[in-house]
Amino acid sequence: MGSVPDMRAVVYSKLGDSSVLELVERDVPEPHWGEVRVRLGVAGVNPTDWKFRAGATASSLPFPEISPGQDGAGVVDAVGNGVSGVSVGDRVWVLLAQHDRPIGTASEYTVVPAEQAVRLPGSASYDVGASLGVPAMTAHRALTIHEDGPSRLGTGTLDGRTVLVTGGAGAVGHAAIQLAAWAGATVVTTISSDEKAALAAAAGAHHVVNYRSDDAAAQIKSLAPDGIDLVVDVAIIQNAGLVAEVLKPRGAIAAYANTGGTEVTLTVREFMRLNARLQFVLLYTMGDAAAHAGIEDVTAAVADGALEVGEEHGLPMLRYPLEETAAAHDAVENGAVGKVLIDVADLD
Ligand SMILES: NC(=O)c1ccc[n+]([C@@H]2O[C@H](COP(=O)([O-])OP(=O)(O)OC[C@H]3O[C@@H](n4cnc5c(N)ncnc54)[C@H](OP(=O)(O)O)[C@@H]3O)[C@@H](O)[C@H]2O)c1
Repeated sequence: MGSVPDMRAVVYSKLGDSSVLELVERDVPEPHWGEVRVRLGVAGVNPTDWKFRAGATASSLPFPEISPGQDGAGVVDAVGNGVSGVSVGDRVWVLLAQHDRPIGTASEYTVVPAEQAVRLPGSASYDVGASLGVPAMTAHRALTIHEDGPSRLGTGTLDGRTVLVTGGAGAVGHAAIQLAAWAGATVVTTISSDEKAALAAAAGAHHVVNYRSDDAAAQIKSLAPDGIDLVVDVAIIQNAGLVAEVLKPRGAIAAYANTGGTEVTLTVREFMRLNARLQFVLLYTMGDAAAHAGIEDVTAAVADGALEVGEEHGLPMLRYPLEETAAAHDAVENGAVGKVLIDVADLD
């Protein structure tokens, strides 16, 4: 590394609210064996970024300084030894950039293992690329945990299945609707407002149910009289009862969030009666096989135009410049509707 500061990065060196974030200049990092360096155009912000920074998921900083952000998109501008499959000049989407690493995507450059910089197919935009990582990989994992499969997603792999996505206007919910619909499932989703209903429908949900104002379980049962095969769930603490009412025997629930609490109560008899499978999902510990499958299938869905973003596709873009990363974190923490993006650099 040279001694001249030559990239802008937003960093923090202690846990806390978003005021710990500051814009600094740092040396551009060098890729080592098996790594690539990506010049970022757009970064995606997820709840995991502010939760980690705030100390909700970490008790101390694993590095003296962290630039936050798991997701982003940009251009490979340097490769380390031993790298194949991705080259300088490739447009890529980046995942897990800050996982066990100090420099995430709120930075002009990040360095990641080569398999975490994935070529963007065709003319897919950096906005799409920066919206993939955490949401789409989590959604992919959630959609592939049923005991009867599929373990991979592609067109037709969920034909004949009915999937319930709770919270369909959320970032993960949006990706789950898009991936499930692309794979051929009938998609039912729950939302809490007319605005969110319109977004979930724009994402491709076939049926939309307001879980606050309607009798959600009765509505879902009338929409899916044979029951739900698979639930992609954002709020199992609140939704366990609903799920037990609508699930098909031998159905599965993928629970990926602890929304609104820490402990869940299940009616054992009901879930036993159903031979139900409850699968908890965490991106960071899903294992290599699920991660590789997710990367390949998500990229294939992008190539098919199935993971588009923007309000017309059910995911409004909320943009912040790099120097306003703190405001971007606050927007996600405060439940922004849509995808919060950071414009890092204009690469086009
Ligand atoms: N396990 C993992 O690997 C993983 C990966 C990604 C995200 N997460 C977690 O998943 C959660 C969501 O992430 P996100 O990025 O999708 O956040 P988001 O964009 O803010 O979406 C959250 C959604 O949940 C909905 N919701 C809340 N309570 C609900 C309920 N009882 N029933 C139905 N929907 C409900 C919200 O809608 P309303 O407010 O209108 O209900 C909102 O649309 C966060 O807690 C995040 O940390 C976990």
